[in-house]
Order: sequence, then C-alpha cells, then structure tokens
Amino acid sequence: MNQNQLKEAVAQAAVDYVLTKIDDGSIIGIGTGSTANYFIDLIALHKHKFQGTVASSEASADKLRAHGIQVFELNSVAEVTVYVDGADEANPHLELIKGGGAALTREKIVTAVADEFVCIADESKWVDYLGTFPLPVEVIPMARSYVARELVKLGGDPVWREGVVTDNGNLILDVHGLYPTGSACKLEEQINQITGTVTNGLFAIKPADILFLATQQGIVTHTANP
Ligand code: 5RP
Repeated sequence: MNQNQLKEAVAQAAVDYVLTKIDDGSIIGIGTGSTANYFIDLIALHKHKFQGTVASSEASADKLRAHGIQVFELNSVAEVTVYVDGADEANPHLELIKGGGAALTREKIVTAVADEFVCIADESKWVDYLGTFPLPVEVIPMARSYVARELVKLGGDPVWREGVVTDNGNLILDVHGLYPTGSACKLEEQINQITGTVTNGLFAIKPADILFLATQQGIVTHTANP
C-alpha cells in the first residue's frame, strides 16, 4: 500500500472504533491534515449517527460542512466524546509532535476538552524518540523574534514558516534540533512559558489515549505504555 492508502485504512479503523463510542447525541472532535481528511470523508457516511462535530481548523470545518455535517463552536458544546486527529510523529508513550498543518493550538484545545484522543497515523510517523520532525511553535506576531531567541537558548534552531498565518492570526516557528531526550512534558512546559508563545506542538502532557498505526502488515493498535 502507498502512504495515502495507509492513511485511508487507518481512518477507516478509527471510524469503526468511533462508531462503538458514539450515539445520536454525540459530538465528535475532528482534527486537521490529510489523514484527518480521510476520516472526515469516511465518517460522513455515518453522519446521522451523531449530533455533530467540533473542528480544529477552518479547513476541516469547511470540509465537514461540505458533507452536510454540523460544526459547532467549541464554546457551545459541553462534551466532546472523542477527538480524532493525525500526527507528525508518535512515540511508544503516545507522545506526539503535531502542527505540520499549523493547527496545533486548536488541536490542543479540542484534545483538552475531549473524553478520548484517538490518534491516526501511517507507519512513517512512528519513532522511538521525538524530534526529527521540526517542532512547530505558534507565536504572537510581535513576539516572533524574541521567542526565536529564547528557543535558541533551549538548544533549538527555529525557522519562521514564512507566509503562514494560523486560524488564530498568529505565526509559526518550526524548531529544528530540539530532541526531548529527557521529559517531553518538561520541554512542552518550558516552551509554553516563553512569553509570546501561544502553544507548541508537543503533545506530551496530554498524549493520545490510543493510536491506530497503519503498517504494511495491517492496523496496529497502541495504547499508552509509560
Ligand atoms: C496539523 C497536524 C496534522 O495532524 C499533522 O501535520 C499530520 O498531518 P497529515 O495527516 O497530513 O500527515 O498536526 O496541524
């Protein structure tokens, strides 16, 4: 199978799983990216089995609406049954790097609200140690240079993702060379404490609850193994 076929296969696995969790009053959290897009197309076939969705990006919201699926404002929703999203890297603790699509802040917010975070990825995303994929950091525009200098002090090499403005009106720094060899939670906290940082793409303090990984041998299910 090629990478797109793996993404579609893992999205189908997530649909099968989500269908066991929802009822007609459920709200599903929907992530962002090409794997999440496959999930949207496949869950759309079951759109009458849940109430609606919340989305982690305007792009995903538009795609959901195009399928005739209701998209709620997160503030108007009391509970999100399950959140389904891809990742740029995932390790055996189900800690993730996310934000390749610049949606990391809304992704982290929806994850925080959701009862369960289901991560879906093809095998290219599976790593023993996080950090080969440059870590996205969303910053307030006027703080870009300051935050970049602070990230250098932490040992990283930040690169401004020029031309990209997030759905929140902010900028992205992609930080190369930051390997959370100790505690990924500590690095996530340290970066968040830099004034002007909105959030960073480490999902370690709240990792995925379950990861479906598409491999050439089939779908492998991982649960957190700290
Ligand atoms: C977007 C994300 C995506 O989940 C991540 O970039 C993976 O994307 P894809 O499924 O296209 O490989 O974090 O901000």
